Amino acid sequence: MMNQVVILAGGHGNRMKVAIPKPMLSVLDVPMLGWVIRACESTGLSRICVVTGYKAKMVEIYLGNRCRTVLQEEQLGTGHAVMQAEGFLKEFDDGNTLVLCGDAPFMDSETISNALKFHIQQENAVTVVTADLDNPTGYGRILRRGSGIAAIVEEKDATEAQRKVREVNSGAYWFQTKALLELLSGLSQSNAQGEYYLTDTVGLALEKGWTAGAYRAENPDVVLGANTRKDLLHLNEVARQRVLEWHMDNGISFVCTDGVIIGNKVEIGAETTILPGTILRGKTKIGNHCTIGPNCILENCTIGDHVTLNSVQAYDAVVEDAVKAGPFVHLRPGTHLKNGVKIGDFVEVKNSTVGEQTAIAHLTYVGDSDVGKKVNFGCGTVTVNYDGMVKNRCEIGDGCFIGCNTNLIAPVKLGKGAYTAAGSTVTKDVPEYALAVERADLKLKEDYSKKKLRNRLFPGDDE
Ligand code: UD1
Ligand code: CA
Repeated sequence: MMNQVVILAGGHGNRMKVAIPKPMLSVLDVPMLGWVIRACESTGLSRICVVTGYKAKMVEIYLGNRCRTVLQEEQLGTGHAVMQAEGFLKEFDDGNTLVLCGDAPFMDSETISNALKFHIQQENAVTVVTADLDNPTGYGRILRRGSGIAAIVEEKDATEAQRKVREVNSGAYWFQTKALLELLSGLSQSNAQGEYYLTDTVGLALEKGWTAGAYRAENPDVVLGANTRKDLLHLNEVARQRVLEWHMDNGISFVCTDGVIIGNKVEIGAETTILPGTILRGKTKIGNHCTIGPNCILENCTIGDHVTLNSVQAYDAVVEDAVKAGPFVHLRPGTHLKNGVKIGDFVEVKNSTVGEQTAIAHLTYVGDSDVGKKVNFGCGTVTVNYDGMVKNRCEIGDGCFIGCNTNLIAPVKLGKGAYTAAGSTVTKDVPEYALAVERADLKLKEDYSKKKLRNRLFPGDDE
């Protein structure tokens, strides 16, 4: 017996006014479709078919070979969307099929597996997952018959009295696969929206004398969907708050959570403080006793212990223990800062390793470089890594002292303990302990400005 999933992601999302498929809109840093797939995978359901439609290519690229897809060329409703997966359903029709909406990201594995247990126990042809909402506006309403279900009526087709029902359709259903195939062939477009409604399968099943049930989810959040921008903001807020609470339970401090957005794959060590305006994304991992923020963005970064980052943007970077960086620092992909590095204002580092206790205090660009330990960068140093055609590397040995406004024209190597004089443009390798000076002689022109300035700035200042 094979249990499998069909996820509906073909809809246009007119109400969102977006040019991408609605399920590709993100909640925190993951598209809603990704949330739904993750819920299936963590329930052990790996046979998944995603129905694509509007801008199908974008969904296909996102999915890669994670799931099968089938194209719904015209979006004629949720029932029509499932019809497109007929071939997929027929391959294994001896089990159950879970149908999920790609725009309801909080469906979870607990609800999915409890609903399946209920579905099997009751021997239902179809089991609808429902929840009671304080504000049911926009959802299909569940019409009950005894303890079972009589029908689902869409908001647009509902009477005044039916709209008062607070139990809503989550858009998630378990079907016996054989029953689903038969029910799909009975759907019609006779409703307010002229669509093939998947919800009509409930009434059809009952007409056939089959059993249909409703499984009421314990956590009403699982039904939350995003039809409008306001809904999407609400989903983000619910998800954000949930992640923050989870971190607080793990010993993370927040003084104020304004503007703090943490993706749900992010890991943070105990006794770290996250300050306002900080956005942590992707597979970012932060150690213990750090202070991150205010106003940091960290994406796919690994941060050690006792690190202080203030107004730092870092992407695919590794930062070891006791590093201090900021304010206004940009760490681009491939940056590796070793223990105790200090980075000050307006510094950019890219694709470079910076050795232990090196200081890059102000206004400096370090790109494609291998920097040793205890190096001191003067203000305004530039590794000139790009000649317009190719990128080259700079190698800077341990203990180097780089004077202010040095240009290091890559490829170039400074040996251990080398010095460069302020203002030098270094085009040749510098041996260990040598000083590189590249400067024209300073010329002085005596009394150069005297005549010009005398009357303007210092009138009456006769000599
Ligand atoms: C649907 C349900 C409603 C339920 C709600 C839960 C129907 C008729 N109504 O309404 O009872 O309360 O979900 O969120 O099923 N899609 C396609 N192809 C289409 C149409 C839709 O793939 O032709 C996809 C959409 O991308 C979306 C999902 O199906 O992911 C649901 O479609 P949507 O139009 O949002 O349905 P609702 O009006 O929310
Ligand atoms: Ca919807």
